[in-house]
Amino acid sequence: MKGARRVAGALGLALGALILAGPAPNVIDEKPLPALGAELGAFPEGPMKALADQACLHCHSADMVRQQRLTEKQWTAEVNKMAGWGAAVPEEERAALVAYLVEHFGPGNDSFRPVEARPVGK
Ligand code: HEC
Repeated sequence: MKGARRVAGALGLALGALILAGPAPNVIDEKPLPALGAELGAFPEGPMKALADQACLHCHSADMVRQQRLTEKQWTAEVNKMAGWGAAVPEEERAALVAYLVEHFGPGNDSFRPVEARPVGK
């Protein structure tokens, strides 16, 4: 009985020490990260940036596009698919937009770095 009480006492002490010490330091707190959604990647400069800004950001962020590595054929299919869903890309501008997308987000695209954000509630 005495032993059990001693163990319980030791546990209580350990718990008290943990509470006094507070939570373990959080690595995330050391960097002042933006809140989720406060900072988004942008389309690269170029003659088609204005069209991409206007046609491609209604339903998702530019990251959806910036992280891709698609061939010209795949970008053509992608732009046609998005236009079918409502992206305002005039027929006569599709080839130029596809060329811009292939230039920046073609198979060799290794420039994408996701925006680091603070987890919700932190
Ligand atoms: C009307 C809404 C809408 C617009 C405008 C739009 N998209 Fe999307 N896009 C979506 C949705 C919804 C998804 C997710 C589809 C899925 O999960 O299959 C998506 C996904 C994507 C993807 C990921 C691959 C895929 O097909 O799922 C790419 C790349 C993309 N969009 C590019 C673009 C580009 C480029 C434009 C501008 C020309 C654009 N989007 C405009 C709705 C849109």
